[in-house]
Amino acid sequence: MPLVTSTEMFKKAYEGGYAIGAFNVNNMEIIQGITEAAKECNSPVILQVSKGARAYANRTYLVKLVEAAEIETGLPIVLHLDHGDSFETCKSCIDDGFTSVMIDASSKSFEENIAITKQVVDYAHAHGVVVEAELGTLAGVEDEVSVSAEDSSYTRPEDVQEFVQRTGCDSLAIAIGTSHGAYKFKPGTNPQLRFDILEEVQKRLPGFPIVLHGSSSVPQDYVKMINENGGHMPDAIGVPEDQLRQASKLAVCKINIDSDLRLAMTGTIRKYFNEHPGDFDPRQYLKPARANIKEMVKHKIVDVLGSDNKL
Ligand code: G3H
Ligand code: 13P
Ligand code: ZN
Repeated sequence: MPLVTSTEMFKKAYEGGYAIGAFNVNNMEIIQGITEAAKECNSPVILQVSKGARAYANRTYLVKLVEAAEIETGLPIVLHLDHGDSFETCKSCIDDGFTSVMIDASSKSFEENIAITKQVVDYAHAHGVVVEAELGTLAGVEDEVSVSAEDSSYTRPEDVQEFVQRTGCDSLAIAIGTSHGAYKFKPGTNPQLRFDILEEVQKRLPGFPIVLHGSSSVPQDYVKMINENGGHMPDAIGVPEDQLRQASKLAVCKINIDSDLRLAMTGTIRKYFNEHPGDFDPRQYLKPARANIKEMVKHKIVDVLGSDNKL
């Protein structure tokens, strides 16, 4: 099966009350860990590449590695651009074989966001590619751009219908209290996503797929593993997984997870080096890191997203 768009996946996910995991990829081991997990769980999956990841690996390698994963697993896989910042970046990914792109003009004015999103949609749809857009601003860091909690803003449900109608986008990322990175909420607080906003958006856009960014849960066992092996992660907690499961049952069809994979990979490698100070063969420490990414993704698919056995 060639790489697919998310159209069918989202339709089934919306109707079935589950979400598809969109996991960020930067190298071969991360791609293998994610897709081996999806294969074992019989789950569709989205592999997403940020502008930074594309700069790190160069524009060819990640596309070819994702194609290799598709050949190995036979899974329906979407290759998605995460947080495209301009028409040019989106066009370049479409020309390279991505099946889905995000244009993130959420920091611009409503009218500018519509204009740039529409330009991307016109080019993407002419090439059989789908487009995710964003309304509202998440806090946190993505690529080199940092948005403080004060500058973040929830999506206004009264804007969504006009935005989707005028842009023709295929899915919409909204801000309901999630944020990017590993430092989302202070320990001891009780994070609560704004389900009232999600439900209001869903009422205004019945059947339309909604996306949640910044959905890592910051597993404390990996934070501990990093800190016990020479790291210095400040205390922080992530998005409660039961709330992500609840969102998956509503209009949320795509849930973005990157930081949790980074924590699993880094924690595992730090621990490995502490226990094997003489080792210098990259395969020795990347192997357990890949295995733990796989376990993490299986947990997300089965216990959080509900996308297992949905092929
Ligand atoms: O939302 C951002 C993703 O976690 C990607 O991060 O831009 O550092 O690759 P990155
Ligand atoms: P996290 O930082 O919560 O993993 O979010 C990732 C994301 O939204 C990628 O677009
Ligand atoms: Zn994001």
